[in-house]
Amino acid sequence: MQNYDYIRPARGDDAGRLLDCYNSANQVHKPEVRADGELETFKQIVKTDHVFLIEDQEIVLGWISYKVLSVYLLVTGLYVRKENQRVGIAQRLLNFAIDGTSGLGLSLCFLKVLKNAPWAISFYQKNGFVLLESDSDDPVMQREAELMVERTGFTKSKWSYLLYKKLKLEETTLLGHRGFDLWADGYDKDVRIGEESDTYPFAGYQRVLNTVYGIVRGRVGNVLDIGFGTGILTRRLYDDGYVITGIDFSKRMMEIAKEKMPQANLIQWDFTKGLPKILDASFDWIISTYAIHHLTDDQKKPLFLELMGYLKPGGAIVFGDVAFQSLRELEDARTKDHELWDEAEEYLVADEIKGIFPDWQVDFLKMSYCSGVLVIKK
Ligand SMILES: C[S@@+](CC[C@H](N)C(=O)[O-])C[C@H]1O[C@@H](n2cnc3c(N)ncnc32)[C@H](O)[C@@H]1O
Repeated sequence: MQNYDYIRPARGDDAGRLLDCYNSANQVHKPEVRADGELETFKQIVKTDHVFLIEDQEIVLGWISYKVLSVYLLVTGLYVRKENQRVGIAQRLLNFAIDGTSGLGLSLCFLKVLKNAPWAISFYQKNGFVLLESDSDDPVMQREAELMVERTGFTKSKWSYLLYKKLKLEETTLLGHRGFDLWADGYDKDVRIGEESDTYPFAGYQRVLNTVYGIVRGRVGNVLDIGFGTGILTRRLYDDGYVITGIDFSKRMMEIAKEKMPQANLIQWDFTKGLPKILDASFDWIISTYAIHHLTDDQKKPLFLELMGYLKPGGAIVFGDVAFQSLRELEDARTKDHELWDEAEEYLVADEIKGIFPDWQVDFLKMSYCSGVLVIKK
């Protein structure tokens, strides 16, 4: 197994190898979206930017380039050779740039991502980056971006999105609660863009939410939502008069949801620890959309048992997520989307749940090639 820990600065005579890596990385795009590079450009980048690389023998497997301008860290390039993608090289390089500049007191990191690369967008989102569109409705961030453009000339193009991340946080890598805090303000917009591109993971997102909503609307009662996020779904039930309890570990998600549902009982809690002891009710509906996949399969089993204990007689658990009827369907989707697939997430498979809990009734409704709704009852 190759050790990707060794990162070194690029020298002038690396330009050809950087170009070679860039062209290899480019093979995942159509030529009209991004053409292959030219040597002179890469010679120039080594002169003007900080460039660091990971190599094996003489071959550059991946590299990052960045500039520090004013209070901004501008990541001008991050490329991984096609055959070495999805093994953590991009993550190492990104951490290296962010951690390596953390002593400089920078406030924001910016980078650009091609619009046709949803896998790259989701990689950066997992690292706490947020899409900044020109019509951003966050005035503070909008102003920050304008200032950054004025100061640096680092603008987005019609082919690319600009993404930013606030710096000076201890946690830069895992999508822990801080990652979700950073994602919260851009979340609704991001899922919309993800859904419009009709690709994993958000293909069918709105259908999934509408279906969960439709099922719950079949019977009045009280609702527990696990990982309610910005409350896109929960808010609809709240507005219809359902009594809502929700659990989410992100403070910012919670603030946004609280504005939409002031009377809801929203609890900040990490569900990898099970359910909070203060839950004193039982529920007609326990719902969760696009959150359960953050648990490993080993963590899911005790939580599902616990959830079942909180259901009123006749109640149901309804999960909407990246989900499949069978392992076979999961494998098909993974093969189709191998470049996008997030190996850190563990998705629901109806047949597997039936196998683990043979006494439960598990119904699966397919929403898109990679999403579905599971209705689980005793
Ligand atoms: C992708 S968002 C889904 C939000 C919303 N349910 C939806 O369908 O749009 C996942 C949510 O789960 C929350 N979450 C992830 N892991 C969690 C954990 N271990 N404990 C509590 N909340 C968690 C995140 O903070 C985030 O709000």
